[in-house]
Amino acid sequence: MTQPTRKEKPSVFYRLKVVNKKHLTREVFALELEVPHIYRNVFDFESGQYVTLSFFYKNTFCFRDFSITSAPYEEKISLGIKVRSEESAAQELLNMAAGDSVLVSPPKGRFILESKPDESRTILLFSSGIGITPIFSHLKNLLYTEHKTRVFLFYGNKTQESIAYREELDLLKSQYSGRLEIYYFLSRERSANPLLYGRLDEKKLSLIINQILHTDDRDEESTLWDSVDEVLICGKGEMVKTLANACYHRGIPKKNIHFELFETYSEDIYPQEISYPLIKAINIDFTLQGKYYSAEIEDNRLKLLQALLSQKYPIPYSCKSGICGSCECQLEEGEVELLENEYLTEKEKKQGRILVCMSVALSKKIKLNFDLV
Ligand code: FES
Repeated sequence: MTQPTRKEKPSVFYRLKVVNKKHLTREVFALELEVPHIYRNVFDFESGQYVTLSFFYKNTFCFRDFSITSAPYEEKISLGIKVRSEESAAQELLNMAAGDSVLVSPPKGRFILESKPDESRTILLFSSGIGITPIFSHLKNLLYTEHKTRVFLFYGNKTQESIAYREELDLLKSQYSGRLEIYYFLSRERSANPLLYGRLDEKKLSLIINQILHTDDRDEESTLWDSVDEVLICGKGEMVKTLANACYHRGIPKKNIHFELFETYSEDIYPQEISYPLIKAINIDFTLQGKYYSAEIEDNRLKLLQALLSQKYPIPYSCKSGICGSCECQLEEGEVELLENEYLTEKEKKQGRILVCMSVALSKKIKLNFDLV
């Protein structure tokens, strides 16, 4: 599926051969690419990363990002691709057959999780629709590399038919029974268990905590929730925001909540509660990928990223929460307040590095440079 929310610096591209194509649902198919030995290092990846494909569509080269669904130990690059309509560029990829080739960027993205093979962790995965793609890679990798870790997957879809990777997931479930539990939630089909009907939202999270993660029938309060180490969420903005906030308000630290947005989403994932003096008509000059831009934003009620994105400037970002570093830049002039930061070191902050997703303007003129060396 295309993921316009993930923008990074331009890449070099390598021509890779398609070795397999498999239909998963009516709209989703898997594409497997062969990585020749000489490119092995270039295409080393971590679970949660994605590649950009460049291909000819409607008389022009287009670029689309797709999550890698294979796990690193599988030593192959598989992608999950959703074709939204016959008009979408992904249709062009669907027309490909084994033996065709496509230009592919090296893997990138920060929706990754540090591997801890010696620990016994409890990890919750939430995904909806095509958001399963990076989660599927994480799931396989966690089970394979962490022999004592327990994983719960909560996977939302409209109907049974729209569940991608169902066969593979069920196979993993039997292979790793005792360490993996999978729950399929359907928003347009009722099943015998009412808990599994509906979207993954805050209410559903409460039910998951109280019912699925409930451990001891003699103790109302007992739940595995208290031992959850990491939460990974991937899907549409509204779902990600709802679940990330619900997890946070129920005690999971933000640094342990990892998410990837699968659509352009203008709202903050964690709404801001801090107030600061109002400044109007702010001038923001910035350099990005060698180009110079001059923008004016109305005031500092929005964070810089939000304000610039609303004017369609191509600012790179991913988490929008001060965690991933995609929006890092150098503050060359002016003053900002960095409201939250889980990414920059003290030294980097002193050097003037900021994250625009978490910064508000505190001066009328600001100069930024995104082309970091
Ligand atoms: S977008 Fe992730 S730190 Fe700003």
